[in-house]
Amino acid sequence: MHIIQTAAELRAARKPGQGIALVPTMGNLHAGHLSLVRIARECGDLVMTSIFVNRLQFAPHEDFAQYPRTFERDCQLLADSGCDIVFAPNDAEVYPEPQGYTVHAPAGLAGILEGEVRPAFFTGVCTVVLKLFNMVQPATAVFGKKDYQQLLVIRGMVRQLALPIEIVAAETVRDASGLALSSRNGYLSDSQREQAAQLQTALNMLAAAVKSGRADWQMLEGEAREFLSAAGWQPDYVSIRRRTDLGEPSRGEALVVLAAARLGGTRLIDNLEI
Ligand code: PAF
Repeated sequence: MHIIQTAAELRAARKPGQGIALVPTMGNLHAGHLSLVRIARECGDLVMTSIFVNRLQFAPHEDFAQYPRTFERDCQLLADSGCDIVFAPNDAEVYPEPQGYTVHAPAGLAGILEGEVRPAFFTGVCTVVLKLFNMVQPATAVFGKKDYQQLLVIRGMVRQLALPIEIVAAETVRDASGLALSSRNGYLSDSQREQAAQLQTALNMLAAAVKSGRADWQMLEGEAREFLSAAGWQPDYVSIRRRTDLGEPSRGEALVVLAAARLGGTRLIDNLEI
């Protein structure tokens, strides 16, 4: 496995006709990321994983400084999982100064849910993902459904900017308790870790109620928020949405339930397609 740090090295490493499957990450890898790498292996001639902690998607009060940087361990895991190249640019490579250009996704999709709580988040994500796409020029890029809204925002960007890249969605990987794997799970204490699967429990309860035919969706969302609050969480949102664009759904449409909540100082997100 090769480690590459600059776009110039990347260009030199490319071979004509080779289809690159890219897995963009911020490192601190877990089994969820490695499942994306395995999917990428099935999609491309060359599997590349980018590791870049993108300051643009963190608000000043968020965890950019404490976000775990575990580069050597990440490289070992990637080498064992069939990754061919790690692309690990530094900040100056991705954001030459002055860094004034950014990509804004439409508010209808990027200003709701995560975008409402974290207003700069999707601009940061779109900007870095477009830059990574331009540097790597992948044929395919793999993203996890755990970040459901991010997946839709990136699909929209690819379609609207006519990028010749196929976006592949990967199912969320969970631990034995049902907790969705996330780099931020590492912030949880042992007792919070035991509690953390309650986020998925809330979504399962919501999904079961919708499937049973209940259509008082706002009431159901409120009940799920109350369940989490009573268990010591601070919910940002629990929401039943249309799968295609996360709009307010009507009966008969394919749905997804999404939640974001804080347990102590750790903010977790999860979702279920129903
Ligand atoms: O999902 C992530 O890890 C990040 O948001 C991404 C897509 C790598 C952009 O920094």
